[in-house]
Amino acid sequence: MVSINPPDPDSSYLHKIWFGVLHFLLTIGSHWLSLWGAVTCTVTAVFIVMMFLLDTIGYFHNPYAGIIAFVVLPSIFVAGLVIIPIGIHLSNKKKRRQRASGEAEAERFPRLDFNEARVRHVISVFGFITLANILILAAVSYKGVQHMDSSEFCGQTCHTVMTPEFTAYERSPHSRVECVNCHIGPGASWFVKSKLSGSYQVYAVTFNRFPRPIPTPIENLRPSRETCEQCHWPEKFIGNRIVVKTKFSDDEANTPLKTVLIIKVGGGHLESGNAGGIHWWHMYSQNKITYIPADKQRQQIPWVQLADPQGKITTFVAADSKITADELSKIPVRTMDCIDCHNRPTHIYKMPGPAIDEVMLVKRVDPSLPFIKKQALDLLTKEYPTQQVARDAIKSGLENFYRTNYPQIFSTRQAAIVTSIAALQQVYSTNVFPEMRIAWGTYPNNIGHQDFPGCWRCHDDNHVSADGRKIPQDCSTCHDLLATEEANPKVLPDLLTGF
Ligand code: HEC
Ligand code: HEC
Ligand code: HEC
Ligand code: HEC
Ligand code: HEC
Repeated sequence: MVSINPPDPDSSYLHKIWFGVLHFLLTIGSHWLSLWGAVTCTVTAVFIVMMFLLDTIGYFHNPYAGIIAFVVLPSIFVAGLVIIPIGIHLSNKKKRRQRASGEAEAERFPRLDFNEARVRHVISVFGFITLANILILAAVSYKGVQHMDSSEFCGQTCHTVMTPEFTAYERSPHSRVECVNCHIGPGASWFVKSKLSGSYQVYAVTFNRFPRPIPTPIENLRPSRETCEQCHWPEKFIGNRIVVKTKFSDDEANTPLKTVLIIKVGGGHLESGNAGGIHWWHMYSQNKITYIPADKQRQQIPWVQLADPQGKITTFVAADSKITADELSKIPVRTMDCIDCHNRPTHIYKMPGPAIDEVMLVKRVDPSLPFIKKQALDLLTKEYPTQQVARDAIKSGLENFYRTNYPQIFSTRQAAIVTSIAALQQVYSTNVFPEMRIAWGTYPNNIGHQDFPGCWRCHDDNHVSADGRKIPQDCSTCHDLLATEEANPKVLPDLLTGF
């Protein structure tokens, strides 16, 4: 058995520390398990500190680096910490057994006699190391929580699964808002809930048990009052908003047609005298609208109820609904909030027509190429097994078209054709994700009524109250249509210059 003599009482301070460390090492090294634990802890601690420093100077952009630094390494570190005392305990037990064979009664616990220099040394080194460990763990768990709340972690760790949402998010008006601001919001209880459902998601992804596409609406999404309204003031009066839409036709010249709308977004307060428009009518600050959807995606709404600021309640029922009153009574009633209209505030998957129009408007796809709109639409709306196959097909499709039908243009306008192909490939791969079974229009958008029922789920002139009142569908309820698909709307030069 190795032993060291206690230091001289009046030896130097450094000397004492040296003895302390030696004693500590002897205690830890007395069993292979505690030795192993100590080595593991030391090695991981060095790595954690290194990763921590690298992360602090902004070296990492990779979501996996964060998982290793703040989840995997700390877990190994803690496991190491746990086995150290187990090893010490086992070694003491062994010593006691050896002693017991000679003595009548074995001691059950080691004696902590502070008069013994060895005990004092071990305890003080132990205390110092524990303090250092607590500091490391506190810093790492803070960073870990911060990391797991980051958009890189939510959006990029489970690669295939979140690619569509992350891609759409990065190109949206909310690309600087973290995922957690909408999906979790402030407060501890939703944080815990999200970590619980997150653990299930880790399981689902690991064992490939997740649905494709991810079904919506998200059943237990936090009410928007506690998320969106942290940033958007619901009573804010927005007033009218002018929207100009350009649609390119499918003729040879891709003739642009313009639609001009004044959308009555509204908002405001009865008390301030500016109440009105879309926002004021539906927001529960003064009106409360509840409804019962007949399908999971909330696209059919047979029953709607309005409680107005005076407390009067009006119930509207779809005249042609086939669902019985008994079936209706079994479905939970939902209070309308931001998400019932803005269900795609950030994961905005576009429809092919408007998505192509958008890149043509900014000339990333050259509108002077003959029939480019029609060709693009044909190529982008075909079904492809993967994004790569789609990209190749878009390239060869467009090249073949111009080579065969417009050889002159094919040879003189190569640059325009090449940039147009790249832009169209990007339109496809930011909106369609065959790997997650997301095609054009898989996720309905509830704003508007062109491609999905949207506002017309209720505003169809067919939802009638007992006293004959209807949820209105007149075109001027929600917007004034100043021009509809006109080549040169007369209002535009009057309203704006430069368009
Ligand atoms: C501005 C708020 C907002 C932000 C920021 C946001 N989301 Fe969402 N997200 C939503 C809303 C609202 C829905 C619900 C759509 C529904 O229920 O129909 C949703 C739905 C989803 C869905 C379900 C599938 C789908 O496409 O609807 C996933 C997955 C998702 N979000 C992941 C993320 C990830 C990952 C991030 C960060 C990279 C993120 N979200 C950031 C608001 C947001
Ligand atoms: C952390 C703050 C924050 C949260 C939370 C947030 N938003 Fe926003 N939102 C913004 C900012 C900032 C903009 C302006 C972006 C811009 O103009 O580019 C914006 C813009 C918008 C717009 C206008 C988009 C456009 O096309 O101009 C809508 C609609 C919107 N948010 C709805 C929502 C909804 C619905 C939610 C909840 C699901 C939400 N927001 C949550 C900060 C937030
Ligand atoms: C009845 C449907 C509906 C509801 C409910 C609704 N909105 Fe809107 N909101 C709209 C429409 C329609 C527009 C105009 C969209 C457009 O111009 O394309 C709009 C526009 C906006 C804009 C952009 C305003 C601007 O400056 O131009 C923001 C921000 C916004 N909504 C936030 C919210 C928030 C936050 C909530 C919940 C408190 C909410 N909305 C509830 C339909 C709704
Ligand atoms: C869940 C059903 C529902 C949906 C979806 C819905 N609304 Fe409404 N909306 C109502 C009800 C109910 C009223 C009150 C009708 C009444 O009493 O005249 C109303 C009233 C309005 C009004 C005021 C009408 C008036 O009499 O001046 C406007 C504007 C409006 N909605 C716009 C929209 C827009 C835009 C959308 C889509 C983005 C939309 N609504 C989606 C239920 C709905
Ligand atoms: C309940 C509200 C509501 C009613 C009623 C309504 N609309 Fe709309 N409409 C909208 C909203 C919201 C948009 C989307 C604006 C946006 O995308 O920014 C829209 C968009 C449009 C567009 C532009 C579409 C595009 O993308 O090019 C046209 C055209 C249009 N509506 C025509 C009509 C006509 C015609 C009627 C009458 C039969 C009508 N709307 C009734 C709410 C309504």
